[in-house]
Amino acid sequence: METLIEKISSDSLNKAKAILLDGGLVGMPTETVYGLSAIGTMPSAVKQIFEVKGRPADNPLIAHVHKDYDIEKLVYIEHDYIYKLKEKFMPGPLTLVFKSKGVICREAVCGGDTLAIRMPSHKGCQRLLRCVDMPLVAPSANVSKHTSPVTAEQVYCDLNGRIPLILDGGRCTGGIESTVLDVTESVPRILRAGLITREMITETVGACEIAQHKEGDKVKSPGVKYKHYRPKCETALFYADETEKAKELYNKTISENKKPYIMCQTGLKDNFNGYDVLDLGKTGEDMARNLYDKLLEGEKKADIIIAVAVDREDGVYLGVMNRLKKSCG
Ligand code: TXA
Ligand code: MG
Repeated sequence: METLIEKISSDSLNKAKAILLDGGLVGMPTETVYGLSAIGTMPSAVKQIFEVKGRPADNPLIAHVHKDYDIEKLVYIEHDYIYKLKEKFMPGPLTLVFKSKGVICREAVCGGDTLAIRMPSHKGCQRLLRCVDMPLVAPSANVSKHTSPVTAEQVYCDLNGRIPLILDGGRCTGGIESTVLDVTESVPRILRAGLITREMITETVGACEIAQHKEGDKVKSPGVKYKHYRPKCETALFYADETEKAKELYNKTISENKKPYIMCQTGLKDNFNGYDVLDLGKTGEDMARNLYDKLLEGEKKADIIIAVAVDREDGVYLGVMNRLKKSCG
C-alpha cells in the first residue's frame, strides 16, 4: 500500500473521511503527538490499529471528539468536578477516563467498562473530527514500544506501507502524550502524567491523586506497564550529579569507534563543551516539546544517546521524566 502525506486542506480532509468511513486508518496530528485513527464504532477498523502497531491486546484506546461533541452520548459523568476540568482544560492535552455507555466498540476498550476521552486542541485535528463527526479512537502513531512521532515524516518512518494517508498538521507543540486522568472516583487520579499537571488539576478541583503502580498490582491504565518510547539506538541515562560518568561513557563509546550523543537541557550543556549534544531546551515545556523529536533525530545519527537530566517531579517534569526514564533508562 502506498502511504501519502498530505497537508491539511478541504481535499485531504474529505479523502481522510472517505478512508475512515470505509474502515481504514489515517495518521492525524494532535497538539501532543501524532495519532493513528479509526472510527470508534467499527470493530474491523479498530482491530487493524492493533495489528498495524503490534499493540498488546489489553491496552485500550482513547476516543477523540471535537469540542462541541456531547460526551454524554458515550460516557456517564459521575462527579461535578468533571465539569470544572472540562471547562478549564478541554480542548487540550487532557484525557478523562469515565464509565462507558458501550457505544465505542469493545475492541477499542479491550472489553473493559471504562472509556478514555480526549478533545485535542490542534486546529487540523478539530477540523477532521468535525468533518467525520464521529469519535475517532487513536493511539500514538508509532510501532508499539518505539518513540511516539511528533511530525508527519516520523509517522511515515514507522508506518510507511501500512496505512493509506497521513494528514500533515506540522510539528506537535506539546510533544508528549496527554495526561490520563481517572474521573470515576470522588477524587481524580492521574494514570499517566503529562502537560496538564497535578498542580494544575489540584488548583482547579481541590485535590488530585497519582496512581502508584507496584509490582503485582492490577494496573488501571494498562499502557503504563509496558516498555515504551524507546529509540532504535542504544541509550543510557545519568542524573545531573553524574556528568563525569556520562563523559566516561561518551569517551569509551568513541574509543570503540561508535558515535555517541549527549542529550540534555540547555542548562547542563556547559558541562559538555566539545561534546556533540542534542539540546532539549530550557524549560520543562521545552523538554516535553523536544524529547521525542531529539530521540528520533538521535537514533538516525548516534549509536548511543546518553541522556543527562535533573531528576525532579514537579509540574510537567513528572511526565517528562517518566518518558525519559522509560525511553533511556
Ligand atoms: O496525547 C495522547 O493521548 C495521544 C494522542 C494521539 O491523542 N494518544 C495516546 O494514545 O497517547 P496511546 O494509546 O498511545 O496511550 C493511551 C493511554 C495508554 O496508557 C492506555 O492504557 C490509557 O491511555 N488508556 C486508554 N483507555 C483507558 C481506559 N479506559 N482506562 C485506563 N487507561 C486507559
Ligand atoms: Mg503510545
